[in-house]
Amino acid sequence: MPKIVVVGSSNTDMVVKTERFPEPGETILGGEFYMFPGGKGANQAVAAARAGGEVSFICAVGDDLFGQNALKGYATENIHVSSALVIENEASGVALITVNGAGENEIVVASGTNAKLSIDHLKLVLGDTNGDTIFLTQLETPIETVAFLAKRAKAGKQKLIINPAPAQTLEDEVLQGLFLITPNETEAKILTGITVNDASSMESAAKALLDKGVENVIITLGSRGSFFMNSSTSFIVPAPKVNAVDTTAAGDVFNGVLSVCIANARSWQDGMAYASRAAALSVTKMGAQDTAPTIAEINQF
Ligand code: ATP
Ligand code: RIB
Repeated sequence: MPKIVVVGSSNTDMVVKTERFPEPGETILGGEFYMFPGGKGANQAVAAARAGGEVSFICAVGDDLFGQNALKGYATENIHVSSALVIENEASGVALITVNGAGENEIVVASGTNAKLSIDHLKLVLGDTNGDTIFLTQLETPIETVAFLAKRAKAGKQKLIINPAPAQTLEDEVLQGLFLITPNETEAKILTGITVNDASSMESAAKALLDKGVENVIITLGSRGSFFMNSSTSFIVPAPKVNAVDTTAAGDVFNGVLSVCIANARSWQDGMAYASRAAALSVTKMGAQDTAPTIAEINQF
């Protein structure tokens, strides 16, 4: 089975639960405060490892307590972290998160060392090996590093999945030949200029990405599920109905688990249904990577 190499961010999430988000300029009294391990890259790596993938995680952390604890946590999850970049006297990434009564979130990230995950570091740790690998990355690390990874994966004929979050545009050469892109509706709009608000606009946005040379497109639709399109087929996979407490990292769990399904050569339909079950389970609990379910939990659900 191919190995999964996640290249991405590692954060510590500072979370306050409130009934509603404050208006600009407003101070409100919230509920409980939580500190959780987070970061889109880390969340996806943990979700993939718990779903049975053999996972390596390439990230950049500081030598502060947050960074040290994060690396220990990933090792406990059986994730290979020997390729992590540890930067002395620099602060690790932190995310300030507010979760409202509906389980929705607002997130501000202080990137810290995530912004220093460089092309040079990737060159160093990846060398010129071209093993049986699936790469998974997001946009919380420098965009030039993502572009380098895309170029390298293409040259090595390796699969790369880009979860384009947080939303930003991508150069045509990153999209050309990309194996899979997994935007949510907002990210699909930023990437294509098409507002995704119904079935027809969703299909147009996915088609626009295929026209740019992406092989497979999945647009995630929150509680409504996910939509797949490639040159031969398209379909929607509904999401299981659950009581959402905190949707933070739903997309990360979906992507991490889906990468394992791809490594296991499961069909798109089957893999997306399995990833949807994992993501639905994750939104029933507070937190980010801690809410990623194990294989046993997904199978029981
Ligand atoms: P986030 O930024 O919250 O991590 P996202 O915006 O990247 O997520 P979403 O489309 O919100 O991505 O969610 C990804 C997947 O998670 C969905 O396709 C769906 O399968 C699942 N999911 C998200 N929210 C819910 C929910 N409320 N109930 C059930 N499943 C959900
Ligand atoms: O996708 C959720 C993640 O986004 C959080 O864990 C937070 O760290 C931010 O990176």
